[in-house]
Amino acid sequence: MAEGAGGRPGVLDEVVRFLRQQEELGLDPVVLEALDRTEVGRLVAAALRRPTVHSTRGGEGERPPAHAPASKATPSHAPESKSSSPGTPAQTPVSKPTSPADPPSAAARPDSSIAVEDLPDTHDALRELALGCTRCGLSEDRTQVVFHDGNPEARLMVVGEAPGANEDRTGVPFVGAAGQFLDLILATVGLSREDSVYICNVIKCRPPGNRNPKPDEIAACAPYLKRQIEVVKPEAILAVGTFSAQLLTGKDIALGRIRGEVYSYEGTPLVVTYHPAALLRNSGWVRPTWADLQLLRGVLDGTDA
Ligand code: URA
Repeated sequence: MAEGAGGRPGVLDEVVRFLRQQEELGLDPVVLEALDRTEVGRLVAAALRRPTVHSTRGGEGERPPAHAPASKATPSHAPESKSSSPGTPAQTPVSKPTSPADPPSAAARPDSSIAVEDLPDTHDALRELALGCTRCGLSEDRTQVVFHDGNPEARLMVVGEAPGANEDRTGVPFVGAAGQFLDLILATVGLSREDSVYICNVIKCRPPGNRNPKPDEIAACAPYLKRQIEVVKPEAILAVGTFSAQLLTGKDIALGRIRGEVYSYEGTPLVVTYHPAALLRNSGWVRPTWADLQLLRGVLDGTDA
């Protein structure tokens, strides 16, 4: 089991065990509100006394995910280190998760399209370039570019939507309550950003007021993600939330209708699931998310059918 939030493996083990018990017993899923590290202990203690922990909403700086409503679980684990590379690119995903009614951003740049082949082919150089990017109007309001967290050698790449206020401030993806919940979800299948997971977003700069990214902003940023996938070469990708799921699968339909199967992103196995912030608001999505994580674990273990 990977050491998780707060470097307190004992507590995290308890949370993971509790989540598994809930699933096995067919009880209502647990929903976590503010998963700050000191609260995890309290949560575990409370959770072990009663089957369901209710919540209201995520923290102040949280980015609400875009989404739409929506298997069975066999937990597994093991520390990760990358052992093999995925296949070669086969197709380019295309999508526009934002509503067609959204106008182009006022500050869209004429040079916003960039050829993936023109981007650096090493992680450090790509990151360096992205940190100074001004290809769309989001660069004007951001505090900093949020490029990645975790291990560039990781077996799994998690792709979220866009940075929120916490991420804009720290430069690190998924650092708020949703991020802590994401860490927990990953821990249930033995994964952690400390060693086995690389985390990034479709959009690298925070949309003002946490609004949904616009199609031209996604188009401007997508080549960075594509190159990121090429240089990290994960064994599997987990897309969390509608934008990421739609972009990487190329399917412009509700997440609930996309999830539940393994796709291929240019040769790399791709699983999609709900955004952790959505789970903090809708407990009904916890169970399918659990199933998606089991699917992902099966892909990494080579046991998916
Ligand atoms: N939500 C996301 O999709 N990404 C982040 O980095 C934070 C919240």
